[in-house]
Amino acid sequence: MSSPPIVGRQAETEALHACLDAGRHVLLEGPVGVGKTALAHAICRSLGRGFVRVDGDGRYTEARLVGAFDPPAVLASGYRPEHFIAGPLVRAMREGAVLFVNELNRMPEGVQNVLLPAMDEGRVVVPQLGEVTAAPGFAVVATQNPAEFVATAALSEALLDRFELVRLDYQSEAEELAIVTQDTRCSPGAALVAQAVALTRATRTDPRFRRGASVRAAIAIADIAARLGGDVTRAAAIALPTRVELLDPQGTSLPDLLADLKKKLAIAAP
Ligand SMILES: Nc1ncnc2c1ncn2[C@@H]1O[C@H](COP(=O)(O)OP(=O)(O)OP(=O)(O)O)[C@@H](O)[C@H]1O
Ligand SMILES: [Mg+2]
Repeated sequence: MSSPPIVGRQAETEALHACLDAGRHVLLEGPVGVGKTALAHAICRSLGRGFVRVDGDGRYTEARLVGAFDPPAVLASGYRPEHFIAGPLVRAMREGAVLFVNELNRMPEGVQNVLLPAMDEGRVVVPQLGEVTAAPGFAVVATQNPAEFVATAALSEALLDRFELVRLDYQSEAEELAIVTQDTRCSPGAALVAQAVALTRATRTDPRFRRGASVRAAIAIADIAARLGGDVTRAAAIALPTRVELLDPQGTSLPDLLADLKKKLAIAAP
């Protein structure tokens, strides 16, 4: 599937490019929906590198990351290399691809530690298979959301010491307008896009929100509003509950907050 072009992000693109070109591993840090995956994917495409994606969670295992032998095949004819089903790490190493680890900090420590020798020396030792060495181009790009957004542990000092850090923050209003315009599916029109972006951005600055929404919410609001006769507040009441956190959940309700924001932003009724 072809992805839309990256809007803006010149400095971050240059930084990530430089790190990968220099054979370094990169930790991309930024809030949810800020464009970490989109940017990493686009840079891999432009460098002609493969992209192997892993999504971190607390139940992820070392065997899933590295790979494992197919039990029936092993029973039938023993530990042969062709019975090994490579996991994302071994695949990325063999292909000289970028291993993209989403939310690395959510992975159990044992899984994180498997990455250390792969990142240092470009090798992992797999029991019954032997040593796997990385083809040129192999690198790890991992993401983590900034600490204030996650309840999970931070990465270990040993792992952090192997990463360069590229931070991504929210983009300008003009850039978000361009992103929403290219990512919506329902042709919402410029006015709806502008309202969706303004409302979404307001959730990040209004003190009544503990956590605001990303441009992903603006894309959803514009699309849903286009299907609801242009009713941006109604669309926002559908798109935002899953994406924002109110400072006082017992206080003003989200629909009332949205009505208030809409008034402040002077968004006209449809
Ligand atoms: N600079 C940009 N140019 C083009 N599209 C962008 C840009 N930033 C974000 N997007 C779009 O916004 C949406 C969210 O981006 P993406 O999924 O990359 O965020 P993320 O930081 O990886 O989110 P998460 O933390 O949830 O993994 C996607 O539809 C993506 O295409
Ligand atoms: Mg992502």
